[in-house]
Amino acid sequence: MKIRKAIFPVGGLGTRFLPATKAMPKEMLPIVDKPLIQYAVDEAMAAGIEELIFVTGRNKTAIEDHFDHSFELETTLAQKGKDQALEIVKDMVKLPGTVSYVRQQEPIGLGHAVWCARNFVNDEPVAVLLADDLILGVPALKEMIDAYQGGNMVAVMEVDKEESASYGMISPGSDTGMLVEVNGLVEKPAPEKSPSNLAVVGRYILEPAVFAALETAETGAGGEIQLTDALATRIGHAPFYGLKFSGARFDCGSKLGFLQASLAFARQHPELKDKVNAWLESEIVR
Ligand code: G1P
Repeated sequence: MKIRKAIFPVGGLGTRFLPATKAMPKEMLPIVDKPLIQYAVDEAMAAGIEELIFVTGRNKTAIEDHFDHSFELETTLAQKGKDQALEIVKDMVKLPGTVSYVRQQEPIGLGHAVWCARNFVNDEPVAVLLADDLILGVPALKEMIDAYQGGNMVAVMEVDKEESASYGMISPGSDTGMLVEVNGLVEKPAPEKSPSNLAVVGRYILEPAVFAALETAETGAGGEIQLTDALATRIGHAPFYGLKFSGARFDCGSKLGFLQASLAFARQHPELKDKVNAWLESEIVR
C-alpha cells in the first residue's frame, strides 16, 4: 500500500540538551555533518514518501531555512567553483509544494503534535517519524511500508524492562518473527507494570481513524496528549502490528545516545572511518 505523506513532529523544547538548544532546534544538532532532521527526511524519502509535513513551534525556523534555498551561500559557492558543496546545499531543496509547515502553539504532547497536521493528511494512511530516534543501517520506515497491509503499525525493539518508563510499551500477540501483533499499548509504564520488554521506537504508520481518536483525546502520561493512547483505542477495530526493524537505533534525545550515534556514524563515514577507528583503538589501549 502506498504511503505518500510523512509527519515530522519537531515542536519539542529539547530541554535535555540545554544550553545547546536554547536558541537552536534540537533537530538541527548534527551527527557528524548532517542534522538529525535530515536523517529522518532522507529515511522517509528512501521509503518513497513524497510529501513532508513538519509540525514546528517557536524557535524552529532554522528547520525551514535548512530545506530552502540559501541564495548568498549558493551564489558564493558557485562563484568559487565549489561544486561539491553547492550540490549538497541545493539537494536540501525539495520539489515546490511538497513541504508544509504547521505550528503547534504549545508543546503538549506527541498526540497533539500529530493532530495539528490533520488538515494536510485527508483520508489516507500517513507515516510519522521522530528525528530523535536515529536508525543506522536498513531504513526502518521502508521495512514498515513494505510490510504494511492497512491499519496501524509501529516500529518496536526490545529494551531492558527497567527502561520501560521512557517508552510506549506493547502487549504482544502473535509473532511471525519480524511482525508482532499489538494487543495492548501503554505509554511509559513503570517496569513492574510494563506488559513486555517491547518498546515503540519513533516510526509509525497511522490509519486516518487515529486522527478522529486524537480529536477527543484526553491528557495521559506526563500530563500530555499521547499518540500511544489514541493508537490504543484502535485495537480491535483495525489491524495493528509492531515491526522489529533490522537497523541499529540510537536515542539522540539523550546525551549518551547522541554521543554513541556520533561515534557509530563516524566509524562508517567514508572520510572519517579510518582515522576515527585508529583513534578509538589508541584510546582503548591507553
Ligand atoms: C515518544 C513516544 C513513546 C515512544 C518514544 C520513542 O516518547 O511517546 O511512546 O516510545 O517516543 O522514542 P518521547 O521520547 O517523545 O518522550
